[in-house]
Amino acid sequence: MVHCAVDMKNVQYRYPDGHIAIDEINFEVGLHERAVILGANGAGKSTLLSIICGILEATKGTIKILNEELTAKNVHEFRARIGLVFQEPDNQLFMPTLWEDIAFGPLNMGLTDKEVNQRVDEALKVVGLSHLKEKPPHHLSVGEKKRAAIATVLAMRPEILVFDEPTAHMDPRTRNEFVKFLSKLHSEGNLTIITATHDVNIVPLIADRAYVLYEGKFIEAGSVAEIFSNAKMLEKAHLTPPILTQLFLNTIKHVPQMVHEPLPMTLAEASSLFQKYCKIPT
Ligand SMILES: Nc1ncnc2c1ncn2[C@@H]1O[C@H](COP(=O)(O)OP(=O)(O)OP(=O)(O)O)[C@@H](O)[C@H]1O
Ligand SMILES: [Mg+2]
Repeated sequence: MVHCAVDMKNVQYRYPDGHIAIDEINFEVGLHERAVILGANGAGKSTLLSIICGILEATKGTIKILNEELTAKNVHEFRARIGLVFQEPDNQLFMPTLWEDIAFGPLNMGLTDKEVNQRVDEALKVVGLSHLKEKPPHHLSVGEKKRAAIATVLAMRPEILVFDEPTAHMDPRTRNEFVKFLSKLHSEGNLTIITATHDVNIVPLIADRAYVLYEGKFIEAGSVAEIFSNAKMLEKAHLTPPILTQLFLNTIKHVPQMVHEPLPMTLAEASSLFQKYCKIPT
């Protein structure tokens, strides 16, 4: 029986030029959990995700995916079970048309034409790009490419979904839709979702647990509320808490009764707190 989606022990990755990009990583993600890796530019997020997905081979430590040790021999078997949406969509799109790009994975899985068609249509619909299916991917806008890259992975129906900076280049509406879509995907399916980002404002909406990466090492792990309450640690990692958290922390300096309230994670939670303590008329 599978208990852990990802189980990394003392993992290190040293690039060929000698740079150790991640080190002493212990990372356990339970099945159906939503984990987020927070870290500034260069912290090692993309390197870590590439190791989890078997694109880079760790130079130290052990990695289990869905309870099986990841080795050079079995890495290909995991390709359909763990899907990485790359930070740069150009690394994921290489076929003459968008349709072919999304069909590429399912075709390689040996599915029938009918199943491939179904999967491609569904993935295109989910990301709202059905109308662009005949276009060459290099003619898409950056935000559209990002959504297209997500579709190529969704069509594989992986058990673990891994996103590297998913909201980069997305406009506000697309970003909101993406966050909603991720929640829906998680609540409907048996998916484990790992996301690396420095877009702290989306974190409460897409994750249960957060890990802070700083210079290649995890310096903190905890619930999203625990992580965002620790302003000093975030500062060390060159991150700032979400704007809602900052507003709450500033307000409790003037409204000390609020100090016992849990950190608001959504706009709705923050609004009801401010109505309760600051007597904002409704
Ligand atoms: N091919 C490479 N060879 C040597 N060093 C590399 C290589 N790729 C990345 N690095 C270094 O490894 C470190 C981690 O890079 P990585 O891309 O994992 O960071 P990141 O957290 O994803 O950053 P960003 O937020 O900018 O995407 C950086 O210091 C980077 O310069
Ligand atoms: Mg990166």
